[in-house]
Amino acid sequence: MRKIVHLSDLHFGRIDGRAVGPLAEAVRELRPSLVVVSGDLTQRARASQFREARAFLDSLPRPQVVVPGNHDVPLWDVLARFSRPLEKFRRYISDDPEPFYEDEEMAVAGVNTARSWTRKYGRINGRQVASLRERLCAYRAEVFKVVVTHHPFDLPPGHDEREVVGRARMAMEALASCGTDVLLAGHLHVSHTGHTAERYRISGHSALFVQAGTATSTRGRGEANSFNVIRLKHPHAQVERRVWRPETESFTHGPAETFRRTPEGWARLTDEVAAGITFDEEGTGLQPHVPARAADA
Ligand SMILES: [Fe+2]
Ligand SMILES: [Fe+2]
Repeated sequence: MRKIVHLSDLHFGRIDGRAVGPLAEAVRELRPSLVVVSGDLTQRARASQFREARAFLDSLPRPQVVVPGNHDVPLWDVLARFSRPLEKFRRYISDDPEPFYEDEEMAVAGVNTARSWTRKYGRINGRQVASLRERLCAYRAEVFKVVVTHHPFDLPPGHDEREVVGRARMAMEALASCGTDVLLAGHLHVSHTGHTAERYRISGHSALFVQAGTATSTRGRGEANSFNVIRLKHPHAQVERRVWRPETESFTHGPAETFRRTPEGWARLTDEVAAGITFDEEGTGLQPHVPARAADA
């Protein structure tokens, strides 16, 4: 069994300071196999904000896979924006904005979808997709293949279609051919779990789409701060939300959904069926074997 804690859109510089300590404590208590942060660590890509984000990441368990978001690229400093957009991300967070983690049960690949020429939207390109295929295609089917981006491949209802990462269809078709299981993203500050079959209609394939809300930003789009806990145990995956309760200053259990991998892709289980499935909690505190090529952000 593997347990991923999925945080997103921290936005240091515009945070609810009360949530930061309890968030770190909740993550540590979960004893995750891996911590994923799907971008927007800062509000305005300032050094002071990156330093705060760095201190926060240092308070969390490792290994970690962290990718940048559009807010991690300088907005007003045009020279920096175009000539060295990820300089501060690389200095304070990780030298590798496209980290990779693997162990016996899962392979997790991060992709940078932030671009200098657009303030808000994101894109994935052919080189990045080729690199993902190289990283993910070789694994046997039982290994969970997870892709982490800031900009999403799918949307909850009611969102502007431009929010989908640019060239998503090209990327999804390539990732489907590798049997990609889970796509983790952020950016919208809205939680959502679904599968990609409806949007992409790729025969014989559907990936789970997991969108995290903002863990600490004050811009919650009507939602409380939250993060996701993703449990993977072949052939099942469970996505549970943890939700910030200001009245108790703690993150508490939110809704959970369980999915089963079938020959046609991922299928959501009814609550009745899901209740009979246990995710073994043993061994979740393990420090998994990290091969030499894995990038621990
Ligand atoms: Fe954000
Ligand atoms: Fe964003």
